[in-house]
Amino acid sequence: MRIAIIGGSGIYEPGILSQVREERVVTPYGIAVLKVGTYQGEEIGFMPRHGEQHTLPPHRVNYQANIWALKTLKVERVIATGAVGALNPRFEPGHLVIVDDFLDFTKRRTYTFFEGGETGVVHTDFSIPYCPELRRLLLEAARELGMVAHDGGVYACTEGPRFETPAEIRMIRQLGGDLVGMTNVPEVVLARELGLCYSLVAMVTNMAAGIAKHTLSHEEVLQVMAANREKLRRLIMHTLPRIPKKRDCPCSHTPARVEVRPRWEGERQP
Ligand code: HPA
Repeated sequence: MRIAIIGGSGIYEPGILSQVREERVVTPYGIAVLKVGTYQGEEIGFMPRHGEQHTLPPHRVNYQANIWALKTLKVERVIATGAVGALNPRFEPGHLVIVDDFLDFTKRRTYTFFEGGETGVVHTDFSIPYCPELRRLLLEAARELGMVAHDGGVYACTEGPRFETPAEIRMIRQLGGDLVGMTNVPEVVLARELGLCYSLVAMVTNMAAGIAKHTLSHEEVLQVMAANREKLRRLIMHTLPRIPKKRDCPCSHTPARVEVRPRWEGERQP
């Protein structure tokens, strides 16, 4: 399986896939569950980041297990979706942004597979944080569909689960943030550490705190996601068949010096 989708808030089902089965992958970090189905003759994985019933808040998502599981299944390309608030006035609720950089304001997550010892000390290059090839394919697909998708935006990841204060949003804006969300770090980091191509399609669900004319709520995020889900689905459907077999990007050149192999439930974890 070459390609997987990680669905964020409001995207819990692999709607576009047929012959769907569930896979439980045992990793050194816990069990990751995903759906595997077929789209246009190719197997595609679908992982709902927050669980199918949205039971996992952003700081409790097992990012390590999720990414390790995808690598175990031989996935090379990941298209992730995420709900975001907008700081940049060019972005409005309902807009899609093909993110090209990030700022990290999270506080208590596990950010690496490389902990020294056997796994070594690894400093991964993040000069090009998101896969440039997947970004290009997503933007081309959006253009063909006549859909507005912004080319680039800086995603600021906050710890959550609370929304930000107006002062935090002013600070993030001054530091160059365009969008704010709670899940992209460490997901994007771990994916690169294992040499996966990773792209993020951000759906703006609200203007950020202090910019919005009203207070924020998770219900509003889910409502706007639901209203625009079809757009995201169409974009991903149109992009998947365009993804070439051979990768032509720097993402796989990272030194993944960890051994990633299938494990089984009950096996003693290192
Ligand atoms: N802040 C953080 N995460 C979010 C927001 C927000 O305003 N909207 C959707 N996810």
